[in-house]
Amino acid sequence: MTLKRNIIITGGAGFIGSHVVRLFVNNYPEYHIINLDKLTYAGNLANLQDIENRPNYTFVKADICDYDKIRELLQHYHVDGIIHLAAESHVDRSIKDPFTFAHTNVMGTLTLLQAAKVYWESLPERYEGKRFYHISTDEVYGALQLTNPAGDKTGRGPYGDQFFTEESKYNPHSPYSASKAGSDHFVRAFHDTYGMPTIVTNCSNNYGPYQFPEKLIPLFINNIRHHKPLPVYGKGENVRDWLYVIDHARAIDVIFHRGRIAETYNIGGFNEWKNLDIIKVLIKTADRLLGHPEGYSSDLITYVTDRKGHDLRYAIDSTKLKNELGWEPSLQFEEGIEETVRWYLNNQAWMDNVTSGDYQNYYESMYKNR
Ligand code: NAD
Ligand code: TYD
Repeated sequence: MTLKRNIIITGGAGFIGSHVVRLFVNNYPEYHIINLDKLTYAGNLANLQDIENRPNYTFVKADICDYDKIRELLQHYHVDGIIHLAAESHVDRSIKDPFTFAHTNVMGTLTLLQAAKVYWESLPERYEGKRFYHISTDEVYGALQLTNPAGDKTGRGPYGDQFFTEESKYNPHSPYSASKAGSDHFVRAFHDTYGMPTIVTNCSNNYGPYQFPEKLIPLFINNIRHHKPLPVYGKGENVRDWLYVIDHARAIDVIFHRGRIAETYNIGGFNEWKNLDIIKVLIKTADRLLGHPEGYSSDLITYVTDRKGHDLRYAIDSTKLKNELGWEPSLQFEEGIEETVRWYLNNQAWMDNVTSGDYQNYYESMYKNR
């Protein structure tokens, strides 16, 4: 079999990364997919058990901040494409520990860029056929106004007219979004300064299987399962734009192959939900699937102190991606959320493993013994 491309996917053991790795390994048997991941608390190779023995897949445990290692890997695998997802990704953690976010997200991205630059510029063809694709978030744009808190406005957005477009000004509020903004700027600077073929995409909140249960949706499903309190920040009025993770992975596939160099694409599903409403859907769905009477878990809702600097509303305009590359979400939210709740309830062993941290000890010992 001829391997036509050698692609490093960073953060491939995490939530979104594992879906991207699976999609590329399945869809492109002629590619060699190298999953480069440090396996932090958020990285879990059990997310990829179904494809781990495929001939076109390799896992490498490495830190994106380790310049020498990254240089060596790029050369060793003749890498011509990088899809960069590795990051610290949880806003609450960034509020407690901003240094780790600056280190991984800014310095890690810069390390990858510089290593790719030095390697690609050493080749006779230089940047020809190469691609550095950086995965970012809509949170770099800051927060939108919630002009219609009732959410019953008809038209483009139920909660307001403003949307994040590719032209929106960067205005990050949390240490997480500030670190992602910094990394986005470095990626664009490497295009503008050195001519590196880069692409940046900014996506809205993802949901689906394999998300670490510190984020709203898996945390709440697990708490409903165990009849534990559901900590709603503030009044639960913040609005997020939710996209099924496999639709994000499909967008990454399309953009990696057909997106224009140096462009930015926003990815989102025109699917805004107020936190409290989404929580009610989770309760209703989980109670039904668990065989509880309707409303059984409603009393678990517990209002807690609001997150510091809590962004009020995110809403992505992904018209450019649709018009240019024909991408649209494939799943209706009702279908996606049903599948997601069902997946977490049916995969309690995965959840127990992740919440106990056992998977980390297991893989640590596995890789030490190689
Ligand atoms: P995640 O936290 O689930 O996974 C992150 C992965 O990166 C983990 O496997 C972790 O081990 C790895 N990692 C962390 N530090 C590393 C390092 N120094 N070297 C190598 N690997 C390292 O994150 P996610 O939710 O899958 O997000 C993936 C990317 O998508 C991030 O860049 C994030 O900013 C972006 N994003 C996420 C969302 C979302 O809703 N989750 C939305 C838009 C964009
Ligand atoms: P989260 O899943 O952390 O994603 P992000 O902060 O990147 O949007 O949170 C989604 C929304 O849910 C956000 O408005 C914060 C809120 N939230 C809670 O109300 N309680 C919780 O326990 C968590 C984790 C989040």
